[in-house]
Amino acid sequence: MSAAVLPIDAASQSNWHDVVSEHVDFDWTLDFQTQTISGTATHTLRVNTPGVQQVVFDTQYLDVTKVIVEGRPGDFTLGKHHEVMGAPLSIRLPINRQAGDKVHLTVHYSTTHECAAVQWLDKQQTQGKTFPFMFSQCQPIYARSMAPLQDTASAKITYTAKVASVLPTLLSAIRVSPPSTGPAHDGKEIGKDAVVYEYKQPIPIPTYLIAIAAGNFRYRAFPKVEGKDWNIGIWAEPELIDAAYWEFSEDVGRFLSTAETILPPYRFGVYDVLVLPPSFPYGGMENACLTFLTPTLLVGDRTLVDVVVHELTHSWFGNGVTQANSTHFWLNEGWTTYMERVLLERLHTPADRGFSFLIGYNSLKQALKQYVNKPKYQRLVINFDEGEDPDDAYSTVPYEKGSNFILHLERTLGGLDVFLPYVYDYVHTFMGKSITTEQWKEHLYGYWSKHGGEEKIKALDGIKWDEWFYGEGLELPDEMEYDLSLATDAYALAAKWDAVRSEEVSKLSFSASDVEKFNANQKIVFLERLQSFPALPSSHINLLGEVYSLASSTNAELRWRFYEVALLDPASPSAKGYAAPAAKWVTGNDGTGILAGRMKFCRPTFRAIARANRELAVEVFNANKLAFHPIARRLIEKDLGLA
Ligand code: BES
Ligand code: ZN
Repeated sequence: MSAAVLPIDAASQSNWHDVVSEHVDFDWTLDFQTQTISGTATHTLRVNTPGVQQVVFDTQYLDVTKVIVEGRPGDFTLGKHHEVMGAPLSIRLPINRQAGDKVHLTVHYSTTHECAAVQWLDKQQTQGKTFPFMFSQCQPIYARSMAPLQDTASAKITYTAKVASVLPTLLSAIRVSPPSTGPAHDGKEIGKDAVVYEYKQPIPIPTYLIAIAAGNFRYRAFPKVEGKDWNIGIWAEPELIDAAYWEFSEDVGRFLSTAETILPPYRFGVYDVLVLPPSFPYGGMENACLTFLTPTLLVGDRTLVDVVVHELTHSWFGNGVTQANSTHFWLNEGWTTYMERVLLERLHTPADRGFSFLIGYNSLKQALKQYVNKPKYQRLVINFDEGEDPDDAYSTVPYEKGSNFILHLERTLGGLDVFLPYVYDYVHTFMGKSITTEQWKEHLYGYWSKHGGEEKIKALDGIKWDEWFYGEGLELPDEMEYDLSLATDAYALAAKWDAVRSEEVSKLSFSASDVEKFNANQKIVFLERLQSFPALPSSHINLLGEVYSLASSTNAELRWRFYEVALLDPASPSAKGYAAPAAKWVTGNDGTGILAGRMKFCRPTFRAIARANRELAVEVFNANKLAFHPIARRLIEKDLGLA
């Protein structure tokens, strides 16, 4: 691609069009006392525009002390800080460089306490309560708060890292030394002796996939899958390693193998999962070679392992074929969600695929409603203004509108059997690249004109492209039908509750056996159905919470949705009554000490509490905010109107 047609990334101030970083060597020291990462980032740059005079990196609250360009002290300036994008770091380049020339430069720097990517936890906030912990979350644009980078998904890098740390340290890359399977912390004293952890990531990745975590980790390999050369395994604190191994050991190899029956081979060599502390703000994050997972997946019955299907599917959609920038985020998440559900059909039954679409559809409806005053964020393809925060637009819209769009295409083009070869071709064609929606569409047309001819092109011409890409409002452009067979019982139970809303609770005959045969997804659909009805009287809600043990459930997917039902009518006695228990649960002050730090749970819970009792929400948040990850903290502040 020539420089002229490279897309603009509205969230980056770097000049990657003119000169691009292709490789970075990190040399870091983790300091748990000062809670900083300090050291160097050495870039290998490639010149695109002849004579380019400077390279510009994104940074956010970095303390830059020195720059070395081609072995000599270099000139640098740190520009004005932008709220969202941070400060551009401009470094003068040697003169007269030609297109294709390489330049090496090293930035000496340290992170600061403003670093949004990293949360530093004290030992009290860990499972073992003996050692501190740190971990990063770089997507969408926080990598720049960890290192000076051209922080756009369009400029992929390879990297190496040498990290000196007193705790076992993991990166989103292949371990070079010490060996993962050797003694923890190379046999040195954990928490006391520094060990240098060395990693390499030989496959170009977008900067948002850079990740680091350090804590008292143990490793356990998952059973090797015959005929596969990738290695899989799990990392967790020792107190959790058995439970974590049990939850995922059967499935990861099976999931990856199943994906490989449809898609090109897994490219990253290692697929490990890491269980994080409760403040991890997502369900999962597809960091290269090392998926990060919320500990709320450890429910002891393997019912939430599907999150892993989602994250490992990103190995192709996102980590392989990458969005050019946040405008095309749906290419990552919509495609991953679509493929995740194809895999669910293979791994379970076709009805499970439909069921997932149904659950997704409910959350899409809610997300679309949430953005009635910001209809731009109801779009699948969002044109961001310069400096607009991609996290403001984060919702299930790209996941659900996107996956429904692909499902609609699948059906329009003749069903799964003819569609999957197209999917393979799409991934194969763009593997390793960063692309826009237009590039995706161009390939789609190209493939079907080659493999289907006129009839398929006519079908494609009939697609409501503009409505799917840029449509706003609460509806999908086409009505979608799903296999709803798994929802029948859940709907029937919800209808029963609805029908008896004006009866005395003492006369009701609900019992735990109503949901005995339900899996977690059926309970979710039951609760969502109740949420779509007018609020139940508080006496009924008390009964609901007790009889199905929802008010005390340790499954956060259920507990959160129960509170949504209980707080549905903010003026009701039930909402007033459950605001306090919800507040205790979300902050871990319910005796468990386990915070509901995943944003999927804590953001709507704080919003629901605020609708019923704003003072309580603000007070409880302020008293507990340091326990939340910096990203979650900032977004809850925005939600509550505190920022
Ligand atoms: N890549 C996302 C998480 C993400 C997206 C972080 C955008 C920051 C910005 C991850 O793959 C994801 O979608 N996680 C979901 C999992 C779910 C859909 C199974 C989550 O955390 O809820
Ligand atoms: Zn995802």
